[in-house]
Amino acid sequence: MNKHYYITTPIYYINDVPHIGHAYTTIAADVMARYKRMCGYDVFFLTGTDEHGQKVEKAAEQQGIHPKEHADTMVHRFTDLWKVLNISNDGFIRTTEERHRKVVQYIFQKVYESGDIYLGEYEDWYCVPCETYFTEMQLVEGKCPDCLRKPEKLKEESFFFRLSKYTERLLGLLKEHKDFVMPDIRYNEVASFVKGGLRDLSVSRTSFNWGIPVPMKTHHIIYVWFDALANYLTGIGFLDNVDMFKTFWPCDAHLIGKDILRFHAVYWPGFLMSLEIEPPKHIFAHGWWTIEGQKMSKSLGNVIDPNEIVKAYGVDEFRFFLFREVPFGMDGDFSKNAIIHRINGDLANDFGNLTSRSVAMIGKFLNGKIERPEKKGGMDEYVEENVKRLVEEYQKEMEIFSYHKALHNVFEIISILNKYIDTEAPWRLSKEGDVRIKTVLYNIWNSLRIVAMLLYPFMPQKSEAIWHALGIGKPIDKVLFDNEKVFYFMDDISYIDKIKPVFPRIEE
Ligand code: ME8
Ligand code: MG
Repeated sequence: MNKHYYITTPIYYINDVPHIGHAYTTIAADVMARYKRMCGYDVFFLTGTDEHGQKVEKAAEQQGIHPKEHADTMVHRFTDLWKVLNISNDGFIRTTEERHRKVVQYIFQKVYESGDIYLGEYEDWYCVPCETYFTEMQLVEGKCPDCLRKPEKLKEESFFFRLSKYTERLLGLLKEHKDFVMPDIRYNEVASFVKGGLRDLSVSRTSFNWGIPVPMKTHHIIYVWFDALANYLTGIGFLDNVDMFKTFWPCDAHLIGKDILRFHAVYWPGFLMSLEIEPPKHIFAHGWWTIEGQKMSKSLGNVIDPNEIVKAYGVDEFRFFLFREVPFGMDGDFSKNAIIHRINGDLANDFGNLTSRSVAMIGKFLNGKIERPEKKGGMDEYVEENVKRLVEEYQKEMEIFSYHKALHNVFEIISILNKYIDTEAPWRLSKEGDVRIKTVLYNIWNSLRIVAMLLYPFMPQKSEAIWHALGIGKPIDKVLFDNEKVFYFMDDISYIDKIKPVFPRIEE
């Protein structure tokens, strides 16, 4: 039986122009999806757009068009960007799709029938841009704690979800699964929030129209978060492909930013418990990007279009930078200097030079033909042992989304290889006619093959180019990541000659 893996990103508000923050989460999910596929998993990777709510309704109104029309033009900004960023998603969901309306109304009805949704009246501070109610306490100097804009006091008849009823069960879930929320700092945040006791949650609105109607009272619109979270069910065929749903649920990982932690780690499992559906296995909330030290905002005009970064530095360079620069989970700062520094240092100097040098030596000293290693000596054992160890560590780190540490291990291999070349001096072995040249160049070749594999989730195109330059015919993504085979001999190698510089230096 195949192993399965289901990973999601948030569905992004259709109203926004996608920026580096959206790109970050989606690339992060892509990295894991590619890694898991390489490990032999059958992966389903879902992303999409959140298209309902008052903000979208208002934006469409201003342009004199229907909100769906507005969404239809905006959605391409996301799907086009995902192509540019080489995102390998298996599904894309828009909350305005019919399959999704059915799921949302079905589950709303079901929770209502179980008694967990009841009709009441709601009054509080509502932040329109964030689609969120806040209590007086939560406001910061009278303003929305998230976006610092002025909220409106709203009072409306509303359906409520009995979230309070699930406080104990949520605490139990958190106690039993310390990795339900990752990293630890986010786990603690959720645990202390739930311990503080949960209020019932308003799950319908009457103040606007753009959304999915409550089935038993159609002038009520289902709360945009109830609607949005359900995408994770719709996207894998909850109602229309039950086999697929059973195969992939419970979700292995919801990747999100720390801004929407509570919705995912508290409300979502609450809804699922009421529906008697298993909660997801992990929620990973990453940190926040600033730009050149400043908060990204439309008013500051410093929102960076990922398309522009890709044009200036290359897609794989951008993907790599995001996870090499900042430990995944922590906040990070994007600056031109930082990305140029990474490209010129790690990629052009350390990794790029190693690759060109090695390929050139194989061409020159072995006439481009890798042969079976014959005689061991020098640093050979050391290299083999350390590469094996670092591959294992890489895998351990990948499993827990420690991308930063995983990459660190790869760069340790690269630095060991640079040292190996300097110490063993293949040019000298060649001059002296020492048969160890075969072993040394084999080890270098093989370790580079491994490095290309390990970097593949982060830099799919560059890794594949290096892989081919190493004379390997099989596509890199069809190779099963198998630790047993780290130092096996590959027979299907064609002649290796030279390689164009893979990572050109960027002028500063
Ligand atoms: O919240 N740094 O959508 P959204 C890092 N529709 N990540 C960032 C970021 C930044 N500066 N800015 C945004 C919504 N993100 C809802 C989600 S899910 C059922 C519904 C990323 O368009 C990060 O992943 O506001 C964050 O959680 C997400 O974009 C918010 O996207
Ligand atoms: Mg947001």
